[in-house]
Amino acid sequence: MREVFVCQEGDIADGAGKVVADNGVEIGLFRIGSQYVAWRNHCPHSGGPVCQGKVMKRVEERLDDNKLSLGIHYTDDGTLNIVCPWHGYEFDIKTGRHAGLDKLKLSGFQVRQRDGAVYVVVPG
Ligand code: FES
Repeated sequence: MREVFVCQEGDIADGAGKVVADNGVEIGLFRIGSQYVAWRNHCPHSGGPVCQGKVMKRVEERLDDNKLSLGIHYTDDGTLNIVCPWHGYEFDIKTGRHAGLDKLKLSGFQVRQRDGAVYVVVPG
């Protein structure tokens, strides 16, 4: 395993990401507050560049007591999703999981922060 330098802490705005390439593998690094997560830029649906999608609050459909729709709303629970630009599948930025399809999950990389810099750990 080896580390790949991605950026200095603070170079990426909170809730935003940056894509880097290493040996033909594209990696998206995202900042959530003071934490960082890294995902392979390869959507498990059909291989789209998921890490180049928008980051948005999770969307939910609220229902009344009769199970009738009250419309679609952004959640206020702090959950952010990465929206794949090809077909719009959404993945939790922290867990990489698709909200409705358990078998779909982004492939992740370990992130290390050291001396003000952020690295991802890759095989090799
Ligand atoms: S390739 Fe990402 S949603 Fe289809």
